[in-house]
Amino acid sequence: MKTYDIAAIPGDGIGKEVVAAGLRVLEACAARDAHFELRVENFPWGSDYYKANGVLMPEGGIERLKAFDAIYFGAVGAPDVPDHLTLWGLRLAICQPFDQYANVRPTRILPGIQSPLRDVTADDLDWVIVRENSEGEYAGQGGRSHRGLPEEVATEVSIFTRAGVRRIMRFAFELAQSRPRKLLTVVTKSNAQRHGMVLWDEIAREVAADYPDVTWDKMLVDAMTVRMTLQPQSIDTIVATNLHADILSDLAAALAGSIGIAPTANLNPERKFPSMFEPIHGSAFDITGKGIANPVGTFWSAVMMLEHLGEPAAAARVMRAIERVTADPSLHTPDLKGTATTEMVTDAVCATILGDNE
Ligand code: IPM
Ligand code: MG
Repeated sequence: MKTYDIAAIPGDGIGKEVVAAGLRVLEACAARDAHFELRVENFPWGSDYYKANGVLMPEGGIERLKAFDAIYFGAVGAPDVPDHLTLWGLRLAICQPFDQYANVRPTRILPGIQSPLRDVTADDLDWVIVRENSEGEYAGQGGRSHRGLPEEVATEVSIFTRAGVRRIMRFAFELAQSRPRKLLTVVTKSNAQRHGMVLWDEIAREVAADYPDVTWDKMLVDAMTVRMTLQPQSIDTIVATNLHADILSDLAAALAGSIGIAPTANLNPERKFPSMFEPIHGSAFDITGKGIANPVGTFWSAVMMLEHLGEPAAAARVMRAIERVTADPSLHTPDLKGTATTEMVTDAVCATILGDNE
């Protein structure tokens, strides 16, 4: 029997509700498969922890996480704590030291779910966005001087390194190559950003030479929003900078029906450090405590975690269960215009997993 050590960090708001639901699904999955078990440790880090202790994560937190096979994360952010503190104090404080440079965001229209785009069906929209997750606009470089004075100045410096761009391009070309259509769109803004983005384009061209079977094209980020909306069929795999992909992945999730469905993997592909899996939605304080958060994004993130752990059959089983459940509109949460609760969806997915004979 294999044992996987999972660090659960539910964080804030609905993060707590959806991670609890996701752990139930993972438990059902381990019970059904019987050849692996999960040892889960919960870490109560986040905004409540910050209010009590002045930090989002205790000193030595990263050291403790190192021993785990994967991290299952909910959301971070609270109305009464500045967002840049929560983000840098927890989520980026894990992504950066663990060098989780490849952020992978698949988007599909799941059974039973409708795209807000007229006439767009599941066959038309099946994308994976690869987000550069270690540098770019989120490098954290910059500062503020002359605070409060009329001459106050703030800089927010984007960093693009040859090594950083090269590794994410390689990752994206490889992912595109592994998918049936072998099609990659490199998103850029090199018309206006004439240093970092031009380097980005040059490296894309260099790396492309090593993947002659991958068809690729280049698209300015603004035009990409139009293409995603009007010609979703023309897209398969996408690679973009940290900020560009942040924005495009929200659009992608909305076009696939709801941001409540979309998953993320923050990968350290070399496996020197644990990778982290999370839904892309935030802490959603407007619906916190109501029991109506859509747990599907968190379940789909568990699928990505199982794939990463080397349990493809279990991952496929959870994905099948998710799709059987989304196919039933009576099991849609309010973000999908339904009336189901988090618990109803979770019960249904667990029961489907346990009863799955494939
Ligand atoms: C995401 C989120 C985060 C980001 C927020 C919470 C800072 O929007 O994972 O896409 O911008 O990276
Ligand atoms: Mg985002």
